[in-house]
Amino acid sequence: MIRKAVLPVAGLGTRMLPVTKVIPKELLPLLNRPVIEYVVDEIIASGFDSLIFVISYGKEAILDYFDIDSGLKSFLKERNKEALLKLVEEVEEKIKYLSSVRQKIPQGLGHAVLMAERLVGQEPFAVVLGDDLVDSDVPCLKQMTEIYLRLSVRSNKPSLIALEEVPLEDVSKYGIIDGERIEEDLILIKRVVEKPAPEEAPSTLSIIGRYIFDPIIFEFLKGLPKVSGEYQLTDGIQAMIDEGYPVYGYLFKGKRLDTGNLKGFFEATLHYALKDSSLREVLRNFCSKVS
Ligand code: UTP
Repeated sequence: MIRKAVLPVAGLGTRMLPVTKVIPKELLPLLNRPVIEYVVDEIIASGFDSLIFVISYGKEAILDYFDIDSGLKSFLKERNKEALLKLVEEVEEKIKYLSSVRQKIPQGLGHAVLMAERLVGQEPFAVVLGDDLVDSDVPCLKQMTEIYLRLSVRSNKPSLIALEEVPLEDVSKYGIIDGERIEEDLILIKRVVEKPAPEEAPSTLSIIGRYIFDPIIFEFLKGLPKVSGEYQLTDGIQAMIDEGYPVYGYLFKGKRLDTGNLKGFFEATLHYALKDSSLREVLRNFCSKVS
């Protein structure tokens, strides 16, 4: 079993400024729930029980959201607000083992993952980005854990990364991979290129914010050089591949929603509104009036 998931949420979220000056992007509401709750739901539904948040100054509210607020509960109980109490308790009970570690200075995703080393220990673990959502019938991370367990029988210390096909003109926004297809939805990765120009991209397969790593990754993250002030996770992955540790890419089934930028956040809002029958009606009426 893979039990631990690391959620690096220590970034500054500059693409969503100015709101992220005071509200972490992971707490922006998609309808009446923060973005991070959708991610946590996927992790829990995939069988994980230990969540490790990598936070930074000003991001404590992410932990508070999942913690118990006794004052609020007593208030709701006294006023007989049973339905609201249930709503609050549901959130508070979601995470069985919640822990956190601080990344004092935002030095990149690779550095953020390394901060979780002591809490992860010596077992395979997931890394899940707090602003990247996947809506799917089978939770994306569950699809991945099933494949990972199969791969770990035949490979030495494997890692698995979720991949998505993107349009060629968008490759420069993502980490792009080069590899050899070994099954319909599985690729043995040879190279990862961070944000290549379209003419230099080895493929149109981009890395999304879902990874399962063997703890050997920490050894490679420790020796990384800084690139533009950051320790890149992709550089750690490349170093691991170069040393002969197998890294697989998996074409997950589902819809990915990147809430870390305004357009993606707006699309995610519409996506979830359309899934709710009453809000779908509101949206339909609104659109019929403006068009
Ligand atoms: P992003 O590339 O989205 O960076 O990081 P960011 O700082 O959050 O946002 P922008 O680009 O300034 O708008 C991907 C993930 O890695 C985390 C972020 O919180 C996000 O979940 N991260 C990034 C860290 O935890 N620490 C870092 O130093 C950098």
